[in-house]
Amino acid sequence: MLKQQAKETYQNYQRAIAGKALPLAWLDMDLLDQNIRDIKRRAKAMPIRIASKSVRCEYVLNYILEADKQFQGLMCYHAREAGYLASKGFDDLLIAYPTMDRHGINASLEQVAKGKSIFFMVDCFEQAAIVNQLAKDLGVTAKLCIDLDMSVKFPGLYFGVYRSPVRSAEDAVEVYRKIKPLNNVRLCALMGYEAQIAGLGDQLPGKALEGQVVKRLKQRSIPILARRREEAVFALKNEGVEFELVNGGGTGSIETTIEEDVITEVTVGSGFYSPHLFDYYSHFQHQPAVGFALEIVRTPTKNRFTCAGGGYVASGSCDPVRLPVPHLPKHVKLESNEGVGEVQTPFQYRGKDLTVGSPVFFRHCKAGEICERFNELQLIRGGSLVESVKTYRGNGQCFE
Ligand SMILES: Cc1ncc(COP(=O)(O)O)c(C=O)c1O
Repeated sequence: MLKQQAKETYQNYQRAIAGKALPLAWLDMDLLDQNIRDIKRRAKAMPIRIASKSVRCEYVLNYILEADKQFQGLMCYHAREAGYLASKGFDDLLIAYPTMDRHGINASLEQVAKGKSIFFMVDCFEQAAIVNQLAKDLGVTAKLCIDLDMSVKFPGLYFGVYRSPVRSAEDAVEVYRKIKPLNNVRLCALMGYEAQIAGLGDQLPGKALEGQVVKRLKQRSIPILARRREEAVFALKNEGVEFELVNGGGTGSIETTIEEDVITEVTVGSGFYSPHLFDYYSHFQHQPAVGFALEIVRTPTKNRFTCAGGGYVASGSCDPVRLPVPHLPKHVKLESNEGVGEVQTPFQYRGKDLTVGSPVFFRHCKAGEICERFNELQLIRGGSLVESVKTYRGNGQCFE
């Protein structure tokens, strides 16, 4: 952001939230609109499923779905969440992770009984068996989606994440043959999430060499993954599976995921809020739409200020990149010994425009997690606060 633009945006945000109690979380609706447009353009004509985990706010999920009919359905992260969202009117829900949580499965199945379309993720017989048993008890048939692992083993290097044990077409067929005799479930979907392409940036600050390696590994992986997904789909079709959907990708892999012939939809979540972890990709840049504002409450030394709150560290491996980053005003520098604190966040700043009571705007590392810290998102449009909307937490919903 240019210096003048940053100054104006800081002043606009400051004006917009004047009088509100801090800390608060904000969503810049103009930037969200731009992200929605850019994501749609990147996905060309491919249907886009919204990853609810990276949004965690019903208002925003609805807003994106209504923005364009290319946005179709939600990818949920919990069976209880899918049940809850279905009860609030959402439909076409793909639960992205397997679960053994009977309460959650039942919450979703009760919505299936009311006619909602919900897919349950499986990668082994046991997960399918529990869904089958509960579906039988309710007198419904549940749709299953098989999770195909998308990691790649290079000599001496595992490029990917540890999720599904289904690593090939043969594995997928083996699982399918085991679950086929179950009467109250039906396998009709496949998901392969290439996390190391979609969720891993290739230009992390201070890691230029690593970035080159990541780029190269991604290039080498993409054809391997495309072949794996295609082979799994064809092998399952040969076994008699009739697919309703084949899902792949995430914010960082839209361009490559949509090129595969077997793919029927791409998932996108983080790109809508665009937290700072998504600043480090060489082939796209979305707008920083979401963050949180802290209030300066003291000035411990000259050119040092301390805010109340701020310790919203993201999940994942222990790395400084998981910390929030100061967003506005520019040139706010955290103290490396303290980072962002549970109740106090000190920083250095040489400008003359901050004082006790001023807000400082930060961005979280990840997209949806910030909503676990706040009951509301303050919607800013055209430099004014237009509405406050409830996050999942504000609605009393916690699915972790
Ligand atoms: C299975 C799965 N698919 C897709 C995504 C893509 O989400 P995002 O666009 O937020 O990176 C995620 C995110 O964690 C995921 O777990």
